[in-house]
Amino acid sequence: MRYRLGVLTSGGDCSGLNAAIRAVVRRAQHGYGFEVIGIEDAGRGLMERRIVPLTIESLDAQGFDPMLSTGGTFLGTINCSLGDVEKEIQDGYRDIGLDALIAIGGDGSMAILQESARMGGWKMVGIPKTIDNDVPLTDRSLGFDSAVRTVAKAIEYLRTTGVSHDRVMVLETMGRHAGHLALHGGLSAGADAILIPEIPYTIDGLLEAIDRTSRMRNHLFAVIVVAEGVAAPDGMICKVVDCQGRDRFQGVGELVVSALESTTKGRVEARATVLGHVQRGGPPTALDTLTATMFGMHAVDLVALERFDRMVCLRGDNVEDVPLKEVVTAGQCLVDPQGQLVRVAQGMGIYVGEV
Ligand code: F6P
Repeated sequence: MRYRLGVLTSGGDCSGLNAAIRAVVRRAQHGYGFEVIGIEDAGRGLMERRIVPLTIESLDAQGFDPMLSTGGTFLGTINCSLGDVEKEIQDGYRDIGLDALIAIGGDGSMAILQESARMGGWKMVGIPKTIDNDVPLTDRSLGFDSAVRTVAKAIEYLRTTGVSHDRVMVLETMGRHAGHLALHGGLSAGADAILIPEIPYTIDGLLEAIDRTSRMRNHLFAVIVVAEGVAAPDGMICKVVDCQGRDRFQGVGELVVSALESTTKGRVEARATVLGHVQRGGPPTALDTLTATMFGMHAVDLVALERFDRMVCLRGDNVEDVPLKEVVTAGQCLVDPQGQLVRVAQGMGIYVGEV
């Protein structure tokens, strides 16, 4: 009997997903002779039995190998609940005839799929991906590095217009409750202040930082990065609840802008930019394609060794694996306010709130 391995992507997309699927297909076919079946649109595809056979040849596109360099996921994904269809999803695994499944997802998807696997008797291995970098028990998730690159690029672009106009440029980044993306992007591109959900800030502290850098430059100019999940000094978080009951964060950048302008009675002129889904697109960085390749290969090796209910993870430069159960019970991985990167930011004279 030919081993039939499924692969799907679930949750918000990011750069590097196609490279991970490619790695799964190459290792499975080349290393073990497995048949690989792509499942479209995550749980919805399982529910509707929508599949696509994957081979090394079909993904290579006559030498162009587009899977390595394209963003998004060609299998499609969903980032929402499907309602009361759990049984149909669970049965999809059996009806499609899978012997094992590799699920590429963030912390939310891992929790949902791990439960489906437990209830449906699936044999599953997970690969962590998310631009938020908040999946626990891995040093980095797939897609994070590419998103950091995009944040850094945006800061570079905002700097030239900001300094030309003597304005404070506020960049709102994604990340939900985690500040990793804002912190890494801001630090790597030399932002003057970085506000993250894990550390409270004050308008006075922020203004002090702006005035300090402005004096040094002789321009009333600064770049401030603010993560979407940051609470205002009065505790308010800018979010709306969408029709699925999920929090959707938006507007904290504008809030910071109006606080700066009103507190200084217009002495500071500021503008907000919401980077939004741009952070999820674009070609993956070399680090992300490398991570995708290592993760994909390790996931297939785990399947071949019949080591299921595990998630591949990164420890330093090494790819290892951890029990999925521990991942879904560990709680979200947030920025440590006492951690090295926060200390580096402070050491560089960057305002990171009232640590
Ligand atoms: O979890 C990834 C993420 O991009 C968050 O940073 C962001 O808040 C959210 O997804 C946006 O989700 P959606 O694509 O559903 O708008």
